[in-house]
Amino acid sequence: MLTNRQLFLIHLGQTSSAPLMLEIERAEGLYMFGKSGEKYLDLVSGVSVSNIGHRHPRVVKAVKEQVDLYLHLMVYGEMIQNPQVQYAHKLAGLLPADLNNCYFVNSGSEAVEGALKLAKKFTGRSRIISFKNSYHGSTHGALSVQGSETYRNVFRPLLPDTWQISFNDFSALDSIDNRTACVITEPVQAEGGVIYPVRRYLEAIRQKCSDKGALLIFDEAQTGFGRLGSMFALEKFNVIPDILVLAKALGGGMPLGAFIASKEIMSSLVLNPGLGHITTFGGHPVCCAAGLASLEVIIEEDLIFVCKEKSDLFRKELVHPLIREIRGDGLLMAVELIKPELIHYIIAHAPEHGLILDYFLFCDNAFRIAPPLIITNDEVRLACGLIKELLNDASNNIE
Ligand SMILES: Cc1ncc(COP(=O)(O)O)c(C=O)c1O
Repeated sequence: MLTNRQLFLIHLGQTSSAPLMLEIERAEGLYMFGKSGEKYLDLVSGVSVSNIGHRHPRVVKAVKEQVDLYLHLMVYGEMIQNPQVQYAHKLAGLLPADLNNCYFVNSGSEAVEGALKLAKKFTGRSRIISFKNSYHGSTHGALSVQGSETYRNVFRPLLPDTWQISFNDFSALDSIDNRTACVITEPVQAEGGVIYPVRRYLEAIRQKCSDKGALLIFDEAQTGFGRLGSMFALEKFNVIPDILVLAKALGGGMPLGAFIASKEIMSSLVLNPGLGHITTFGGHPVCCAAGLASLEVIIEEDLIFVCKEKSDLFRKELVHPLIREIRGDGLLMAVELIKPELIHYIIAHAPEHGLILDYFLFCDNAFRIAPPLIITNDEVRLACGLIKELLNDASNNIE
């Protein structure tokens, strides 16, 4: 009989030539467990998804309760479904007043697609500006605005009238003009290797968009739900976009995305033609129930306020000759090493040291630390000890 490992390689579409290939039997809190009792400290959170850890009891309870009531009822936007309504209401209460109308979809890419379409429909314009080294997803529209020519080029033709400018370059903002439908940016570029905006940069984008009548879209798929030490990065930087994209931790471990705007902007999808954006499964009731429960835990357990302290502790403990720099003042950090050749070794060998680490898509000299926000100070120290052992191992094995 073939093993799951063999079946994985035979039957599952692969995304990489070197998948991690860990066979996980269950996951709980900060840890994943293998079939033979292996225990891995998760420092990735499934890429900024499991912000309250794996299988939080409140999320499991919410999922079970919803499963007992109903699963899919009807395409999105027709029936009044309690988990969707309650979640949208909760989000509106946490966001700036104008971001009060939530369109639920299934993923980050899909939320980006919806946001771009909404901006085009509302403004009647087609030009879209985004930033080099940004990541917004893998579907055609999202790919058209992501900031890597390597990934885009092989799939051309893509969406026309999309332009990428350099992040943190003030003069490049002159390309935002009165033909521009929208500017889409991550407030902090996650896959670019945790690149923060320089002072006043997001304000400058906001101002330029307002001057030219273009909409500003913040993609907070990775920065939302406490990771940077505020519920959303828009609070941290005090800049309000016209459309907000949420995903990843939005679903509390279930697949969910959303684009959020004012009622006025969102209404442009309703007429001429009607059904301007539709989805069968968007805002699945089980996913909304899980997401709402997860958000309540983030708030009730004050997970946001301890984020900076834990990030500081990582920085204090994680001192090693191979580390050049640690970027990020929340629990989304890029650990830059002195040699890019070390990164593959570090990530591939992390499980042997009881750790899950990951790459960044567009930054080849750093690895990612983005643990669940529930990590305790003792677990931060434990993680740093294991990472330093791993770095010693790498320096003994890589020239
Ligand atoms: C900032 C950002 N936007 C959008 C996406 C796409 O989300 P998904 O993979 O759920 O389609 C990602 C995924 O990594 C992301 O980091």
